[in-house]
Amino acid sequence: MKIVGIQSSPRGKNSNTLKLLDAALDGAAEAGADIESIDVAKLKIKYCTACNSCHDTGVCSIKDDYKGVLEKLLAADGIIWSSPNYITNVTAQLKTLFDRSPLVIHEQLFDGKYSLSLTTAGSDELDFVLDIMDNFMIHCGGSTIGGVGCSVAWGPQAIETAIEESRIMGRDLVEAIKERRKYPEQEAVHEAWRERFKYVVLANKDHWTHNCDYWIEKGWIKQ
Ligand SMILES: Cc1cc2nc3c(=O)[nH]c(=O)nc-3n(C[C@H](O)[C@H](O)[C@H](O)COP(=O)(O)O)c2cc1C
Repeated sequence: MKIVGIQSSPRGKNSNTLKLLDAALDGAAEAGADIESIDVAKLKIKYCTACNSCHDTGVCSIKDDYKGVLEKLLAADGIIWSSPNYITNVTAQLKTLFDRSPLVIHEQLFDGKYSLSLTTAGSDELDFVLDIMDNFMIHCGGSTIGGVGCSVAWGPQAIETAIEESRIMGRDLVEAIKERRKYPEQEAVHEAWRERFKYVVLANKDHWTHNCDYWIEKGWIKQ
């Protein structure tokens, strides 16, 4: 079983959020997973240009480090998203990765994968930032087991507690994957989204060729 952790703070090894990510990956490894950490802040990932070629061909037209990251995410059973709170949002580095992933959403390429989200903040809005990462995962067809957030304003003991919680959640991510854990409320979101989005794919069938063929192959559009 493979678990990939995404780091997105530009502060490298000094990152508070990285402490949570490292603990979660350690927990996953203790539970038997093969782990890998990717620091997207150190990679060259350009902005999406909205060329739509991924929907037509199944391949992003921009040549940079995104392709390698996507391949690793697609090969993973579980993903650990992590970001500090930057202006009540994820970092620009993580948002850029999300924006490059419309194909993953349109074709629900994280179907069957599970995730965990981690954040730290200077003050608060932890749940808001965790929800951004969780919602991205659910919109990609995957499931989230939840997250851990910690404010540095709560002091060093709170960070230690969050590190321990992240380790436990990392272990639980592996268990969720092993038992194919069900989250009915997330499955309801998947189903409702596919029902709505079917009409968007059909409306664009002439230029979203890859999307349309994929939906027919999956049986999400009946011919
Ligand atoms: C550009 C920037 C924006 C930030 N915005 C917020 C914010 O809106 N709310 C908050 O509570 N903390 C905010 N912070 C504080 C960070 O979330 C906090 O220091 C976090 O622990 C940094 O994580 P890192 O060490 O992993 O980079 C911001 C920090 C930076 C540099």
